[in-house]
Amino acid sequence: MSMKFSGQVALVTGAAAGIGRATAQAFAAEGLKVVVADYDAQGGEATVQLIRSAGGEATFIRCDVTKDVEVKALMDGVLAAYGRLDYAFNNAGIEIEKGKLADGNEDEFDAIMGVNVKGVWLCMKHQIPLLLAQGGGAIVNTASVAGLGAAPKMSIYAASKHAVIGLTKSAAIEYAKKQIRVNAVCPAVIDTDMFRRAYESDPKKAEFAAAMHPVGRVGKVEEIAAAVLYLCSDGASFTTGHALAVDGGSTAI
Ligand SMILES: NC(=O)c1ccc[n+]([C@@H]2O[C@H](COP(=O)([O-])OP(=O)(O)OC[C@H]3O[C@@H](n4cnc5c(N)ncnc54)[C@H](O)[C@@H]3O)[C@@H](O)[C@H]2O)c1
Repeated sequence: MSMKFSGQVALVTGAAAGIGRATAQAFAAEGLKVVVADYDAQGGEATVQLIRSAGGEATFIRCDVTKDVEVKALMDGVLAAYGRLDYAFNNAGIEIEKGKLADGNEDEFDAIMGVNVKGVWLCMKHQIPLLLAQGGGAIVNTASVAGLGAAPKMSIYAASKHAVIGLTKSAAIEYAKKQIRVNAVCPAVIDTDMFRRAYESDPKKAEFAAAMHPVGRVGKVEEIAAAVLYLCSDGASFTTGHALAVDGGSTAI
């Protein structure tokens, strides 16, 4: 599938693995220059190598998205590397909960909110001035189906992903007349390290995960990448403030 892009440079956070890596590869396959950002330097450099060995153009910049100075430095690094920013996929996220709401602790809360909410907020805060200066662009944030409804035993995570949708919709309205589109992608269970950590220890859990989706399987990283590229592409020029479920039908039940 080929998509039409009017810009040339894409930034992906959380691009050392999983959904972020696959999306960085998909942008590069469309001929875009890609900045691969993550706090995992080894994984980030591996993503860059995968892109280069497929003939694409990419640069790794190490960044902890919870730190204002590092996120600001990331945007400076994007400009230094490629001179502009057209598309940003704010995707870095964590899930570390093990139990019900009353079993959680303050450190878990701060860690999850720090990456999933503050990280997305900081990224948009430092991306929007670049996009405004250039006359437009598109941002996609990774929420989750856990941003659209309940997620038992993942209550902090669910709250964080609802917050991502709140940030997305508010920013979309604020900048709607400035040619900046802001959308969220809401994956259901996708086969990544995050999924394997959560489900593969127990085969029954993996079966349950597949059965949660009317299509009868969990999703693939490429299926999320395709949705992100669509939301950035010119084909989505009238789509902003949208939270797109990519979920094998699971939120339609
Ligand atoms: N896998 C799923 O089932 C699923 C479902 C819905 C939503 N999501 C969301 O998709 C996104 C990507 O998840 P994934 O499944 O690819 O997970 P993953 O664990 O494979 O990848 C997440 C990446 O984010 C990076 N990261 C974590 N904290 C960071 C920080 N502070 N600064 C910079 N980078 C950081 C990690 O190093 C890693 O490379 C997350 O936001 C996650 O919440 C995943």
